[in-house]
Amino acid sequence: MTNKKILITGGAGFIGSHVVRRFLEKYTNYHIYNLDALTYAGNLENLSDVEHATNYTFIKGDITDEDFINNLFSEHKFDSVIHLAAESHVDRSIKDPLAFVRTNIIGTVALLNAFKNCWKDNFEDKLFYHISTDEVYGSLGQTGLFTESTPYDPNSPYSASKASSDHFVRAYGETYNMPYVITNCSNNYGQNQFPEKLIPLFINNIINKKALPVYGDGNYTRDWLYVKDHAIAIDLVFHEGKLGETYNIGGFNEWKNIDLVRLLCQQMDLKLGREKGSSEELITYVKDRPGHDLRYAIDASKIKNELGWQPSVTFEQGLEKTINWYLENETWLNHVTSGEYKLYYEKQYS
Ligand code: NAD
Ligand code: DAU
Repeated sequence: MTNKKILITGGAGFIGSHVVRRFLEKYTNYHIYNLDALTYAGNLENLSDVEHATNYTFIKGDITDEDFINNLFSEHKFDSVIHLAAESHVDRSIKDPLAFVRTNIIGTVALLNAFKNCWKDNFEDKLFYHISTDEVYGSLGQTGLFTESTPYDPNSPYSASKASSDHFVRAYGETYNMPYVITNCSNNYGQNQFPEKLIPLFINNIINKKALPVYGDGNYTRDWLYVKDHAIAIDLVFHEGKLGETYNIGGFNEWKNIDLVRLLCQQMDLKLGREKGSSEELITYVKDRPGHDLRYAIDASKIKNELGWQPSVTFEQGLEKTINWYLENETWLNHVTSGEYKLYYEKQYS
């Protein structure tokens, strides 16, 4: 029997598709509604293996469309929301900040309003789970870690918009007693990531023997987490996280970009049967990203100690799984790079 109706926003994206699949397969008694506008980053091919599940409904729609969102809540009365829909790429936010204000701030507030109006003051067994990023904390120097009490100090239009959305979620909790939880996660990698982000972009470029554009001197540091481990953490926080709390999620796995790119080149040379060192020749240092944050690193001890979560794979294992997936899913990659994935919705749902 269905005992929860969960709205997952952004479920056709990278992380969202892993969360949708995990919930569909593990909780067959829940009904999962995947709401996604199918922007350039939304790809229903990510979910083609589970789209016929009886506990799944896909809804094409925009979280910034207030009337549409209110009607959707009136119609379905979702018990819980897991909110991932966002504009997520820092470089795009530098070119078009307003798009990030619209989706990440206005879209989040539209969802919060619809959830509040739907349940009025009776929030028993209800949850608004907001998925956020470690970038809200700004940049670390060479030492230290982001904890849940690190002050917000966002530097890019993307991270400023995510910080604002976090504040709104907390404000709705304080003002309207809305039950919420927020997680702030570090850099994800894995299958189905759009090849604009560092790892999938470089995998695709290595396959095609194209230049690998390393920003600045390459000495920027990120803390990498395998996407399926993020989905496991989201499942855990959704079910066991304390209301009104924030949890940091990270990989315990810091890499300087240039070291990561070298490791990727080595693994790709092995997989592709290319001469050792040949992919490294593709490394090209290019103009730096404006306002580039030097270092992110998460202290994930709260979620580890309180909820018993930790990453299940090492970076080397996760990276190998990721490379294998991209090499075995050439059609997915070709559809994404050619734009053909955009036709999937018409073919499948017209
Ligand atoms: P993504 O860009 O791959 O996917 C975003 C999804 O949201 C897409 O399917 C897109 O179509 C959808 N979307 C965008 N605008 C929408 C709108 N107005 N209405 C409805 N749907 C819309 O993003 P991702 O990397 O999977 O990130 C998901 C969430 O996790 C984001 O909130 C992001 O800030 C957060 N996050 C990402 C990372 C990471 O490393 N990728 C790390 C920490 C947190
Ligand atoms: O930390 C979490 C964040 O991680 C998420 O909130 C974002 O949604 C996600 O995009 C990611 O942000 P980053 O900016 O860290 O990821 P990106 O893959 O764009 O870049 C990783 C690092 O690699 C960063 O230091 C910039 C650098 N880079 C990136 C690209 C695309 C390059 O050197 N060359 C590139 O071509």
